[in-house]
Amino acid sequence: MSIFLNPQRHYCGSLREEHIGQRVTVCGWCARMRDLGGLIFIDLRDREGIVQCIFDEADNKELFDLAFTVRSEYTLKIEGVVRQRSSINDKIPTGRIEILADSLEIYEKADTPPFEISDEATVNDALRLKYRYLDLRRPSLQKSLALRHKIAHVARQYFDEQGFLEIETPMLTKSTPEGARDYLVPSRVHPGEFYALPQSPQQYKQLLMLSGFDRYIQIVRCFRDEDLRADRQPEFTQIDLEMSFVDQEDVMAVNEGFLQRVFKEVLDVDITLPIQRMPYQEAMERFGSDKPDLRFGYEIFDLSETVKSCGFGVFDGALEQGGTVRGIKIEGGAKFSRKEIDSLTEFVKTYRVKGLAWAKVNENGELSSSFAKFLKPETMEALLEKAGAGKGDLVLIVADTDTATALNALGMLRCEVARRMDAIPEGVYKLLWVTDFPLFEYGEDDEGKKRLYAKHHPFTAPKDEDLPLFETNPIAMRAKAYDIVLNGTELGGGSIRIHRSDVQQRMFKALGFEEADIQERFGHMIEAFRYGAPPHGGLAYGLDRLVMLMAGRDSIRDVIAFPKVQNASDLMMHCPSLVDEKQLKELSIALDIPEKKE
Ligand code: AMO
Ligand code: AMP
Repeated sequence: MSIFLNPQRHYCGSLREEHIGQRVTVCGWCARMRDLGGLIFIDLRDREGIVQCIFDEADNKELFDLAFTVRSEYTLKIEGVVRQRSSINDKIPTGRIEILADSLEIYEKADTPPFEISDEATVNDALRLKYRYLDLRRPSLQKSLALRHKIAHVARQYFDEQGFLEIETPMLTKSTPEGARDYLVPSRVHPGEFYALPQSPQQYKQLLMLSGFDRYIQIVRCFRDEDLRADRQPEFTQIDLEMSFVDQEDVMAVNEGFLQRVFKEVLDVDITLPIQRMPYQEAMERFGSDKPDLRFGYEIFDLSETVKSCGFGVFDGALEQGGTVRGIKIEGGAKFSRKEIDSLTEFVKTYRVKGLAWAKVNENGELSSSFAKFLKPETMEALLEKAGAGKGDLVLIVADTDTATALNALGMLRCEVARRMDAIPEGVYKLLWVTDFPLFEYGEDDEGKKRLYAKHHPFTAPKDEDLPLFETNPIAMRAKAYDIVLNGTELGGGSIRIHRSDVQQRMFKALGFEEADIQERFGHMIEAFRYGAPPHGGLAYGLDRLVMLMAGRDSIRDVIAFPKVQNASDLMMHCPSLVDEKQLKELSIALDIPEKKE
């Protein structure tokens, strides 16, 4: 059955050989017009693709003359009969047919667009985003947004089948501590007071659990004022869920079901369950990251014992100060030139380590190395053995006084080398649960003083066996928190929440919150928890990231209809922007803008 009232109407991109002989109507934009002398070819584009339409001067001179006036991006209605194409174009799905037009209506002419609307044209990003509505006409973006729709649809369907209710939560709300800066909205009615746009619906979904909605889901916009990157936007979308009377296993199981379903339905990719799991500590030690990309090897190993007191100042110095020496082995990496290794050295230095030591075993078994001259031959041999390095391999080593710094740098390096080695397989989806996150991390307060922060958020439950550490060694505590990682990207994160008020109090205390502060910021939560709180937990996916990875894109911008640029502005709508003096007055706001630094 057709979705159109006019049964003759079809999407341009949906016509196939089965339509041959039928009279059809298509509507869309002129992608290209060619006049081949007596014959005019118009490629008509709509959201499903492109179809070739022919106007024959010999058939209908008047129609031909009208077709002759058509230019790129004119909006048209074309009617005609589908016929076999004489020269087949296998590059497009409609490439075996064409429409012999017998009617043309020009709905509206178009100015020449500021750039060519095709996936092949190289156009500067700022220009694309200024004219995003034109950019969105490109087939790849049409495809990405259709894919996004499908993924959201499968999510709603799956979670509905699992008994989840979709419940909306406010956008004008109170600051939730997710770790980023808030976007604030001034209140006119309460001069000097502000709403915060939600960084996530975290508190609301927990309150819904207290209200008895034991399975909640929402596809919801979140706002975070943080530095933008390829996988970060100031506003983004979560698939957010929460469940009551559950433990970590229940949450993981229902989400594994979702991931399996969405990959099958959307990409026809089979995900085998259960999804691999790895504790945070192990992920850091082996991959130098809490979101390891498991599509390739280059695992990190510890050389500290092997090179202890070896005589090479860089290694000895780091170890004497309680640091570490770690390395990765690159199979086939001996082909890297000195220049390439120098550029890898520059790369790791951006991650706050001082340098990169290297050793190569050439194809003929010869060793060359930046530090061999400092080492006894047997130490070098032990090092290569520990690395498992054979002919053709390269070992890259970082020494640092701080273990976390060394691991992080090597974690970034292994990904960079994998890109340069072309070692990342296409079309592979490596999912991983990272579990047992630390409950706290160190950070600096406004005065630059070191203090504890919640690694996830302050409602995350500690592991039961770590409860006694609250008062003795909080930094060693682990949380009932888990992230779902896909190909090195954090796709989602969640936790089991604290449902006991005594534990919540200890948590706030460990975070150094004053009683008055707790009451002011979380009083409503603490009070709510006094009226019967079910054990509960949940998770939120970054929908934009899920779509990005499933669409095979490198940036979430490519899967968001109207994204912001690096400096958080919208180049098309020209915002943020100044507002009327009158509007500010109504809000009792006076501006105090610092002078721009030269
Ligand atoms: P979290 O802060 O880990 O958890 O966020 C969940 C997921 O949201 C995505 N994400 C983003 N995507 C695009 N741009 C951003 N700026 C951005 N920030 C986060 C990531 C991330 O994994 N309330 C908790 C969830 C819970 O505990 O249930 C939360 O928001 O994919
Ligand atoms: P140098 O003694 O400075 O010539 O350094 C010898 C080798 O050690 C060079 O390859 C340096 O890049 C390397 N190197 C310097 N600092 C470090 C470090 N922190 N970790 C690993 N290698 C380093």
